Amino acid sequence: MAKRRQLFEGKAKVLFEGPEPGTLVQYFKDDATAFNNQKKGTITGKGVLNNRISEYLMTRLGEIGIPTHFVRRLNMREQLIREVEIVPVEVVIRNIVAGSLAKRFAIEEGTALPRSIVEYYYKKDELDDPMISEEHITAFGWATPPELDEIMAMSLRINDFLTGLFLGIGIRLIDFKLEFGRLWEDDQMRIVLADEISPDNCRLWDLKTNEKLDKDRFRRDLGGIEEAYQEVARRLGILPES
Ligand code: C5P
Repeated sequence: MAKRRQLFEGKAKVLFEGPEPGTLVQYFKDDATAFNNQKKGTITGKGVLNNRISEYLMTRLGEIGIPTHFVRRLNMREQLIREVEIVPVEVVIRNIVAGSLAKRFAIEEGTALPRSIVEYYYKKDELDDPMISEEHITAFGWATPPELDEIMAMSLRINDFLTGLFLGIGIRLIDFKLEFGRLWEDDQMRIVLADEISPDNCRLWDLKTNEKLDKDRFRRDLGGIEEAYQEVARRLGILPES
């Protein structure tokens, strides 16, 4: 394969220059990190599974009218995406108390929330991604008020859709993180869903047993990480050929 220019290397993915202007190739690594890089490891086959799972979920979301950066999967570890300007805000949507929310308010994990909670975090590794409010986002110009309205509306729609999709395969969508980007087309800008959606950035619990089928298995040294990611892919009907 021709040598491509690497544009960015993140914790779990690498971005390369794409074949046409305005496109990028997103490569999924097996590397896993947690607690902002303090814990590092490798999950064999994770990149292959996340590439498939994210392709599947982005495609389903595209079908219901959510604009995304995803174009098509290229091979086992790579997908073609549209180049976007990432909004430096991580959007976390929570349906059930877990993780940092459980810790912050000393509420038991698994407690149902009467309504979904949307939180924002400033995407800045050096600062450990601090939690922020809408006021910070607009005051510091990370997104305009209309962009933020769009991001919030899309996040809630994505949550409704994904909650139903996962329930259909016996999985509870506890919480997840989304990223958005600005896409320019014919001098018009629109906000699109970017990054990935996979067990790396969702909490997914088995509906019957509450078994964790996500990155918490790595964060909390629970073992069976590959198997959990494979189980999610298997239930979605997209387990890659071996
Ligand atoms: O750790 P916390 O409970 O705040 O995480 C909420 C959700 O956001 C989890 O599903 C987690 O996987 C995801 N997340 C992420 N990337 C981060 C922080 C959280 O994908 N930097």
